[in-house]
Amino acid sequence: MNASLPTVAVIGGTGDLGSGLAWRWARAGYPVIVGSRVADRAAIAAAELKARTGKAVRGMENAAAATAADISVLTVPYANHQPTLETIKAALAGKILVDATVPLMPPKVSTVQLPPGGSVAVAAQAFLGQSVRVVSALQTVAAHKLQQDIIIQSDVLVAGDDAAAREAVIVLVAALGLKGWHAGVLANSVVAEAMTSVLIAINRRYKIDGAGLCITGEPTA
Ligand SMILES: NC(=O)c1ccc[n+]([C@@H]2O[C@H](COP(=O)([O-])OP(=O)(O)OC[C@H]3O[C@@H](n4cnc5c(N)ncnc54)[C@H](OP(=O)(O)O)[C@@H]3O)[C@@H](O)[C@H]2O)c1
Repeated sequence: MNASLPTVAVIGGTGDLGSGLAWRWARAGYPVIVGSRVADRAAIAAAELKARTGKAVRGMENAAAATAADISVLTVPYANHQPTLETIKAALAGKILVDATVPLMPPKVSTVQLPPGGSVAVAAQAFLGQSVRVVSALQTVAAHKLQQDIIIQSDVLVAGDDAAAREAVIVLVAALGLKGWHAGVLANSVVAEAMTSVLIAINRRYKIDGAGLCITGEPTA
């Protein structure tokens, strides 16, 4: 663990996406807290990560995890997005929230179905208020790939209204072994939120095990 790195809480970190992220951040030396609705479930998941990484991963109920963290990463199903935000809102004041939520509406997960207002992340920002810097990221990376010790060919669109917060998340994304791109203001999150259904459709049509997104072109500045 590196004391100069921010503490990251993965809200819903017992799940598929959250556990993959928590493992990769712990392995990279970040202080990681696994969050869950149930403290015991968080503790069990944290113990598993500790055994896998040899790092001191902690497990806490979601609100306690967000309170103890510098940056929280929200990885819960869309159906539970708003109720989860309500439980962690107070703990997030003055901090960064990374929202990875995709507004999938089963069973039609390969059809883009955006929520009222167009974007989950924008709705989160409106609910949390301006003291929380919401950054949208990671919607297009497959959880089962994050959980494996492999190189993942997939870039990450990082959208948010605060450039410094976006940059902090791009650093976090790099620690996962992925390339993050400044993708503009939070309203642009709608593209990543919609892209997941497009990738699912491509996976099905071409039998790809987790299609990814790659930005081409070489930066000159
Ligand atoms: N899976 C992927 O490949 C992937 C990739 C990119 C983005 N995403 C997005 O990331 C989010 C999480 O996806 P996931 O596949 O990791 O989900 P998941 O494994 O089904 O759920 C994640 C966690 O959320 C909590 N949760 C589940 N159902 C809930 C409910 N009905 N009410 C309250 N809490 C509930 C659970 O934690 P506790 O029971 O411990 O509280 C669970 O471990 C989703 O928005 C998804 O669209 C997923």
